[in-house]
Amino acid sequence: MPAAVPSIRVACVQDAAVVHAVHALRVADDQYRYVGDTAFNVDDSLRDAMSEAMAVFADEAVVGFYRLDFSPGSVAARELPEPSVGLRAFVIDCAHQGRGYGAAALTAACADLRQRHPQRRLLALTVNCANHAAIALYLKAGFVDTGEIYQGGSSGPQHFMLYRLQPRPPL
Ligand SMILES: CC(C)(COP(=O)(O)OP(=O)(O)OC[C@H]1O[C@@H](n2cnc3c(N)ncnc32)[C@H](O)[C@@H]1OP(=O)(O)O)[C@@H](O)C(=O)NCCC(=O)NCCS
Repeated sequence: MPAAVPSIRVACVQDAAVVHAVHALRVADDQYRYVGDTAFNVDDSLRDAMSEAMAVFADEAVVGFYRLDFSPGSVAARELPEPSVGLRAFVIDCAHQGRGYGAAALTAACADLRQRHPQRRLLALTVNCANHAAIALYLKAGFVDTGEIYQGGSSGPQHFMLYRLQPRPPL
């Protein structure tokens, strides 16, 4: 019988056990430049009143992390013409990559934002131009490449992408 497909869900990082599990997430050596140190990222998110630290669960196991950043200009150092939120530091643990968890986590993240932050209309991110796996993932998930290249990344130029969470209001 085939193995059961785990259920992927996302939730705010709240208790110490989840913080500990996020600290334990790892990526391959050549992926660190795209995402930085996840232990730092979760701690920094938890210190920041304008951010939410989010864990990705496969059934009950923590398999990933991302940061929601609500501060204006949090992504690509620019404010958007509609209420937005930045997706930062997204990672799936290297032992769990390539199983569809990243794609399912983005679907869950958007559903979570629509439910908890319905006033935010755009989800924004930057992704390193050399990070072909993540670029393919985001495009497949429905993000649109704005065509704008952000040069401020510490690891090189980045694509600036947007995902529409809520319809544009009528004029
Ligand atoms: C990018 C990342 C989150 C993808 O997570 P994942 O769980 O492995 O992705 P999925 O298995 O859900 O893959 C979904 C789609 O992404 C793309 N993708 C994922 N891994 C890929 C790879 N190694 N090469 C090319 N495309 C890839 C494919 O389009 C894939 O769809 P497909 O399987 O139908 O071809 C993961 O590789 C990661 O954590 N990387 C390190 C951190 C990082 O780069 N974060 C992004 C910062 S902007």
